[in-house]
Amino acid sequence: MALPSVDARLTDIEHYRQQVLTHPLAGHISPEEVRDHLARVPRQRFPREAYRNRGASPCIQPRGGFPLFEAQYELTRKLSDSGADFIPLTIDSYTRHNQYDTATQLLRRSEEEGRNYLNGYPLISHGYELTRQLYSDIEKPISLRHGTPDARLLAEVAIASGIVEIEGGGISYCLPYSEGFPLDRCLLYWQYVDRLCAVNSTTDAPVHRESFGPLTATLVPPAIAVSVEIIEALLAAEQGVTSFAVSFGQTGSIIQDIATARVLKDLTRDYLDEFGFGSVQAYIVYHQWMGQFPNQRERAAALIACSALIASLISADKIVVKTVDEALGVPRPEINAEACDTVRYVLRTFQSSETFMSPMVEREAALIRSEVRSILGAIFSISGNVFWESVFRAFQLGYLDVPFSPHSDNANRLLSMRDANGSIRVADPGNVPLSVEDLGLETELLASRGSTADNTYRQVLNDIRVMV
Ligand code: 5AD
Repeated sequence: MALPSVDARLTDIEHYRQQVLTHPLAGHISPEEVRDHLARVPRQRFPREAYRNRGASPCIQPRGGFPLFEAQYELTRKLSDSGADFIPLTIDSYTRHNQYDTATQLLRRSEEEGRNYLNGYPLISHGYELTRQLYSDIEKPISLRHGTPDARLLAEVAIASGIVEIEGGGISYCLPYSEGFPLDRCLLYWQYVDRLCAVNSTTDAPVHRESFGPLTATLVPPAIAVSVEIIEALLAAEQGVTSFAVSFGQTGSIIQDIATARVLKDLTRDYLDEFGFGSVQAYIVYHQWMGQFPNQRERAAALIACSALIASLISADKIVVKTVDEALGVPRPEINAEACDTVRYVLRTFQSSETFMSPMVEREAALIRSEVRSILGAIFSISGNVFWESVFRAFQLGYLDVPFSPHSDNANRLLSMRDANGSIRVADPGNVPLSVEDLGLETELLASRGSTADNTYRQVLNDIRVMV
């Protein structure tokens, strides 16, 4: 039995940092100089400040990354002017997969030809000194959005650039993003990132971590997403992170979104407190629909507006925004800015001060809560020396199983489908340890949809394409 504990803390991180920082592209980062720089970064650049001052509406967070510095500079200001409360720095795919040389070559080619040969900003190729200049006059948090299993050097360069929100986690940036990056290594590398955030934090200026709850964004049952989020919050807390956001993606059912948000908030707090991490501040982030988007812009706009309303209903601390070009490609800055404006309009027009309640929401929340408790209870009981080892074993045993993950360490035995109101139901749990009662309720609710006998495949396909 290995429960989350401060004993798992990487106390000798400086030793590992020296190794990571020997990389030629680390640009002679000095940990002392970085700490001095962070002390000069305005407080408004820290997510804790942004969340404290957000008022009744969720903060707005777009995504966005271009290879050229000038394009990123322009995007940053456009998004800020359009009402974004958090400014994104989305990283290109080569950098995400540690292929820094290729990223650098394609950056040079982009510069020479004035075309985008990368799908994001190659932060490591640009380096921290130039990147600091992107944000010299920005008084909002900058958020590192990537998808990197081994983000040690990337996080070093980001923090050196004054970026103090780091998205990701050992599970959430591995299973949806990689086929073969070993999960155990990923968990260890994310211990480094968490610890790095902690050692660069001060009490009133904590480097903030955010998990990525949408996972594959494809029929992920809320209990799986909530369990993963709580695990990543606990793993970060072990390393000394004190400011952490859990998140989840729009499920496709309003009832399930409201219930998921409630359980995610309550249980994250409960488990952090239970394991002695009462001083960790937890926030909740809602991702607008992360599945396949309609390619008609009018429909995409409607979807964006409706999910902004849901973010308000669930009292999210932040909403991550899509654009009307989601189905078509990387959005132009104008399109991205328009999406922020639309969301700001909806949030301002429909402020919600009371949490929505109904018997269906209550039933759904009770079910998700019970399932999460079963799953986490089973993981806590797995033998091991440290918590991350139990988490790794949980995937091998199929206790945690992420639908449609391409990763070889994922069991792929759980089968999920939508019920009559569009909520995601567990049709077959595989090895996920749900109680007989909870499974019975899942089956009963799924039956509300009517016959699924001979066309399951087609129904699952329709369920995936539900917004199209
Ligand atoms: N610019 C803007 N948005 C991006 N996304 C990914 N890369 C970029 C980029 N360079 C967004 C897309 C994608 C989501 C995961 O992130 O909306 O679906």
